[in-house]
Amino acid sequence: MKAAVRYYTKGGNTKKLAEAIADAIGVEAKSVDVPLEEQFDVVFLGNSVYAANIDKEVKDFVTENADRIGCLVNVSSAALIESTYARMSKLCKELGIKIDERNYHCKGQFKFMHKGRPNAEDLEDARKFALDIVK
Ligand SMILES: Cc1cc2nc3c(=O)[nH]c(=O)nc-3n(C[C@H](O)[C@H](O)[C@H](O)COP(=O)(O)O)c2cc1C
Repeated sequence: MKAAVRYYTKGGNTKKLAEAIADAIGVEAKSVDVPLEEQFDVVFLGNSVYAANIDKEVKDFVTENADRIGCLVNVSSAALIESTYARMSKLCKELGIKIDERNYHCKGQFKFMHKGRPNAEDLEDARKFALDIVK
C-alpha cells in the first residue's frame, strides 16, 4: 500500500502527530505546501481547527490533489471540538474523494489549555492508529 503524510500546522502540534505517523509507517511527513508527487492509496492529512473551521491551506491541498488521493485519513487535534472529521468529510464528499471512517484525534495545547498535548501517549496512539490503517 502506498501511503503519504501531509500536515498543516500553526503551532507545531499537528507536525508532531504527522511526524509520529510518518515515522511509524516509514515515510516522510511533508507540509501541505508540497503537492502529492503521484497517486497514493492512503493520504494521512494532519490538520486542526482554527476559529471553528479547517484552514484554507488544507482545503486547497485537498482540492488541488484530489485525483491523487485514493483514500484520505483525517488526523486532527483541537482545544475544544471533537475532531475536524465532519468538516473534512463534507469537503471530501463535495470533491468526490473517499475518506476513511477511521480518524485520529486528540487534544492540542492552546494557550493555557491541554498543556503538553499531544503528549507521548497521544503520539504512541497516533503511531498505532497509522499502523493499523496500512497493515
Ligand atoms: C488562531 C487559533 C484558533 C483556534 N480556534 C479553535 C477553535 O475554534 N476550536 C478548537 O477546538 N480549537 C481551536 N484552536 C486550538 C487548535 O485547534 C489546537 O491548539 C491545535 O492543536 C493546533 O494545532 P497546531 O499547533 O498544529 O496549529 C485554535 C488555535 C489557534 C492558534
